[in-house]
Amino acid sequence: MKYKVVYFTRTGNSRRVAEKIANILFLEALEIRDNMNWKGVFGFIKGGYYASTNKNVVIIISENLDDAEELIVVTPLWAGKVAPTINTFLKTKALKKVHLVVTSGSSYLKDRSYYKSVTDIIKSKNNEDAVIDDFTDKIRLD
Ligand SMILES: Cc1cc2nc3c(=O)[nH]c(=O)nc-3n(C[C@H](O)[C@H](O)[C@H](O)COP(=O)(O)O)c2cc1C
Repeated sequence: MKYKVVYFTRTGNSRRVAEKIANILFLEALEIRDNMNWKGVFGFIKGGYYASTNKNVVIIISENLDDAEELIVVTPLWAGKVAPTINTFLKTKALKKVHLVVTSGSSYLKDRSYYKSVTDIIKSKNNEDAVIDDFTDKIRLD
């Protein structure tokens, strides 16, 4: 299989985006979980700290992804970076085979050059479906 779609989410945005992408491409969206509690204000603060200091977490994933040629990875932006769960996951992957899709409130991922592509879905721009359509069109032609 050429692509697999995986995502991490804290509040559902990245799940929604991953499921839209997967539906358009006739794929499943697979959730990556971790051993942390990111809920509430303390979870938010911990999340910012873990993201900004590149701390690892224990990731939980129910499927082997080795048969995918390329990965579509949907992550929230935390403190300008990929969320720690996805950051940990990506440490064992070839980033040139990763299409990263980043959901955020208003800002862009800072370190962008390592990936095959980076797509930003920024809430304040109100253009989620148009960005997803552009992205999936490109993936289909890839
Ligand atoms: C710890 C933390 C840090 C965040 N940092 C940023 C940020 O730097 N820039 C931004 O635009 N949004 C930031 N956000 C907002 C999220 O990126 C945004 O709401 C995202 O879509 C959430 O995805 P989710 O619903 O899949 O968890 C942050 C959210 C959290 C929890």
